[in-house]
Amino acid sequence: MNILLGITGGIAAYKTPELVRQLRKRGHAVRCVLTDNAGRLVARDALAAVSGAPVATDLWPEDGRMDHIDLARWAEVLLIAPATANALAHLRLGLADDLLTTLALAVDPARPRLVAPAMNTVMWNQPAVQENLAVLLQRGWRAVGPVAGDLACGEQGVGAMAAPEVIADAV
Ligand SMILES: Cc1cc2nc3c(=O)[nH]c(=O)nc-3n(C[C@H](O)[C@H](O)[C@H](O)COP(=O)(O)O)c2cc1C
Repeated sequence: MNILLGITGGIAAYKTPELVRQLRKRGHAVRCVLTDNAGRLVARDALAAVSGAPVATDLWPEDGRMDHIDLARWAEVLLIAPATANALAHLRLGLADDLLTTLALAVDPARPRLVAPAMNTVMWNQPAVQENLAVLLQRGWRAVGPVAGDLACGEQGVGAMAAPEVIADAV
């Protein structure tokens, strides 16, 4: 299947090249879309190398392409991993101010859409975050994780992104 992997600016973005490899190992084609913040946490060139495809970041490509529509049509599954608190809020509200959030609105809602939330435990437990995810689940989105573990912020608790193998199996 064609998997559109949206990567947002959570520290777990550094694990996404492995997630791409796990998806490709299962026979899927993968295209990656990076938010600006995610681009600070994982190398675009690494994702291009492991996916074997260009990585899209820009809502306004120089040649006038409409990547937000073309990629949304290409995607048989939309997977956002890691999904930040910010991304969940955008998806819940239908805000579309970058390539990923715009294309998320352009993906046919009949197609599977998954998020793998990942964040600090206090952030995860915020009513706003929980409510945003609950609304997405009501609308047919599915969630994988987060799981309990040692978090990059030094805390222990729920908030770690599910393991790449687990996310790939969920897809
Ligand atoms: C080093 C670093 C790590 C971060 N990790 C997370 C995270 O794991 N989860 C999260 O929700 N936000 C995290 N943030 C905050 C997001 O990057 C920030 O909310 C940003 O606006 C998200 O933008 P995006 O969703 O467009 O990628 C982190 C910020 C920094 C500086």
